[in-house]
Amino acid sequence: MKSHQVRESFLQFFRQKGHTIVPSASLVPAEDPTLLFTNAGMNQFKDVFLGLGNRPYTRVADTQKVIRVSGKHNDLEEVGYDGHHHTFFEMLGNWSFGDYYKREAIQFAWELVTEVWQIPKEKIWVTVYLDDNEAEDLWGSVTDLPDGRVVRFDEKENFWEMGETGPCGPCSEMFVDLGPEADPDFTGDPRDGINVSDRFREFWNLVFIQYNRDQNGDLHPLPEKHVDTGMGFERITAILQGVNSNYKTDVFLPLLETISDVTGQPYFDDERGAPHRVIADHIRCLTFAIGDGVMPSNDGRGYVIRRILRRAILYGKRLGMDTSFIFNFIDPVIEQLGTAFPDVIPRRELIQKIVQSEENRFHQTLDRGLDILNTSLDRIVANGDSTLDGERAFELYDTFGFPLDLTQILTREREIAVDEQGFNDKMEQQQERSRAAWRASGGKGQDDQILGEIFKEHGPTEFVGYHSDSATVEVVAIVRGQEIISKAIAGEEVQLLLNQTPFYGESGGQVSDLGTIEGQDVKLQVLDVQKPISDLIVHTCQVVEGSVTPQMVLTAQIDTERRQQTAISHTATHILHSALREVLGTHVGQAGSLVEPGRLRFDFSHYEGVSSDQLQQIETSVNDKIRQNDVVQTKVMPIQEAKDQGALAFFGDKYSDIVRMVQTGDYSTELCGGTHLQITGAIGLFNVIGESSVAAGTRRIEALTGATAVQQQQMDSALLQQMSNLLKTQRSQIPDRLKKLLRDNHQLERELADFKTQLSTTQTTDLTQHSVEVKGINVVAQFVENLDRNGLRNLTDDLKNRLGSGIVVLGTGTKDNVSLIVGVTSDLTPGIQAGNLMKVIATSAGGRGGGRPELAQGGTSDLEQAKSAVSKAPQLIEDLI
Ligand code: ALA
Repeated sequence: MKSHQVRESFLQFFRQKGHTIVPSASLVPAEDPTLLFTNAGMNQFKDVFLGLGNRPYTRVADTQKVIRVSGKHNDLEEVGYDGHHHTFFEMLGNWSFGDYYKREAIQFAWELVTEVWQIPKEKIWVTVYLDDNEAEDLWGSVTDLPDGRVVRFDEKENFWEMGETGPCGPCSEMFVDLGPEADPDFTGDPRDGINVSDRFREFWNLVFIQYNRDQNGDLHPLPEKHVDTGMGFERITAILQGVNSNYKTDVFLPLLETISDVTGQPYFDDERGAPHRVIADHIRCLTFAIGDGVMPSNDGRGYVIRRILRRAILYGKRLGMDTSFIFNFIDPVIEQLGTAFPDVIPRRELIQKIVQSEENRFHQTLDRGLDILNTSLDRIVANGDSTLDGERAFELYDTFGFPLDLTQILTREREIAVDEQGFNDKMEQQQERSRAAWRASGGKGQDDQILGEIFKEHGPTEFVGYHSDSATVEVVAIVRGQEIISKAIAGEEVQLLLNQTPFYGESGGQVSDLGTIEGQDVKLQVLDVQKPISDLIVHTCQVVEGSVTPQMVLTAQIDTERRQQTAISHTATHILHSALREVLGTHVGQAGSLVEPGRLRFDFSHYEGVSSDQLQQIETSVNDKIRQNDVVQTKVMPIQEAKDQGALAFFGDKYSDIVRMVQTGDYSTELCGGTHLQITGAIGLFNVIGESSVAAGTRRIEALTGATAVQQQQMDSALLQQMSNLLKTQRSQIPDRLKKLLRDNHQLERELADFKTQLSTTQTTDLTQHSVEVKGINVVAQFVENLDRNGLRNLTDDLKNRLGSGIVVLGTGTKDNVSLIVGVTSDLTPGIQAGNLMKVIATSAGGRGGGRPELAQGGTSDLEQAKSAVSKAPQLIEDLI
């Protein structure tokens, strides 16, 4: 059976059993800060298990993209060394939401495995949780599993949890006995081999979800019991294809073949093939992670992806690959899995470019890092030590981009450990920063627990703001800090929950509405509106007058001007998105956005800077569509229908099965819950004000809209007019005029410098002609035109040079600020010193001065006296000698 038939037969089986088949969720868990990556099929249904969300079905099945490289489920170390652990894999699953429970879950599993897939019954083993008599009994009564095949295990093996917190419960796992040859070392009783020996391969986990684990680690029974199953698609394929490793199935063989073609290194299915297998595993992970919008970076998910790629590069190095090559394997991955996960197809080129440029970057430092590491390891071995210090590991990380696990791979081969504590100490700062960023991206840190209680009691808040700006509302609950309170009085800031509201809660990048909530003798100012749980709208309000209590009926009124300005930006954002795809290509996908009154910020996947030509085309295209005055239509429909109509979805958002589709003209169709205009003409004007890079493969455009864009244009225009007036030229001539001015200015500066040099030479020549002889010594004593101190000193040096041997006395300055200088050539200083001479001259000029034997400076505030002192200098020198 081909792998695609395995997938199809699974889905077909559960379709026949009344299950709705849904698409895989994104690898980026929507709105769940407790998870880095989607790590199980049930993630997308977490809200249903917790009683916080609903679906239009109670039975569902799918194949889910999963990454397990961090947190509670981390299989990284095994990858490539055994045949059945992966960083990325497909999880086939079926779920019941309060519908069937253990009996049917077990019955269905047994029927599919033994009847549809015909796995021999005598090869099957089953585990159950320690005290789960019910499950054990059911295996006996509803299946014909041979006797004695149920083994009990504790929570480590048979109590499944999604993460540190969240839905969980006892589970029952199915194993297949691959036969003694799968593990010749194991000869004991099969019961002792389950969860121990490779001979017994676990392939399906049936979880009976009954509890929620809270932050304190306590278990709380859920309102209903659910079924959550997960089967490793690659494992079951291996079993059905009769091979003992996932890498021997048609899921991996074509990929391994391409890897040996590109690297020129044949593949062996023993330890020599580990590099091929690691690369094959990692490229699948990279393709789908980047496809779901995770770009390599230095924190959070992006860092995990960067690490995975760097590991693959390192393994490539063992195959002799010194330049980028891994990007070549994206094609075979997409070829194989594109049908099951079509979202990846339009992003092929983007993924290739990102991987290739990351590869190039890392290759630039890899060799130097390896040199440093090898030198350190040689030294450690020579000293008889066995640990690489944390500081060196950190240096490799920080300067050469070696993730710790990469360094560990390399040191392990030489039986050297890494001082992880030391490394972690060094990392702490960076990690704290990354955690802060992670928290920041994980929402507002609302205490979901208390809001969860309110939600369970009162249900969702109905949003009536698509069609009206105000509504009569009833107060459902009031929260202050972490408490539900029964009354809030003037001056207090509280969170208000209403039965319905016209206020849009911040989401999908769109800022919240603001406004007022009022009644007789009570008035609240709405400061912020959030949706910490989907469908629960929380109004942060300041009580301005009177007091508010639950059940009060009030009037909620949004600030309509703000709403309109925001709608302008939101509709403009959709048009921009379509213009980007039109000008740059359909690989462009939304990576984030901010929509607020008058301005917008749109982050999108693209591998290079957008040129100014392209920016202009984009801006023009958006403004064309504004003038076309196209209709913006919103429709509510099942998600599949919307996707069939080509609606674009944003991976960071959570979509329910019934979605809202916003269609603008015939060029933009998006899933979107935001508030929009009815016609594009109302935007008025759209102006790009910036384009920049936010991360590898992610660009950002900032733009102004509506009245704000008009204001900005007016300011720009006024500025131009001012320049045009100052430069006395037409606007269109400003650049030429400025260029000419700059050129002229430069020319003048050069001429001035030349002129100054010339002037100083002439002056020196002039002055030497005025030299007099005093007792056989040449003396120049002159008052010169205004010079600054530097100029005076330079002139003195010139004169000394020109004289060869002699004394220079100069004065310069204005009415009440005169500088004096005396220079004596060094051959004369034993007899006469500039400092002494200056004292005499300065005193005679009514000022002060002094200095070294060869150069002295002084000053006075009496111009006439200074001039006379300088002219008397030869006499003063004569007296002194
Ligand atoms: N959620 C369960 C698992 O991942 C089925 O194993």
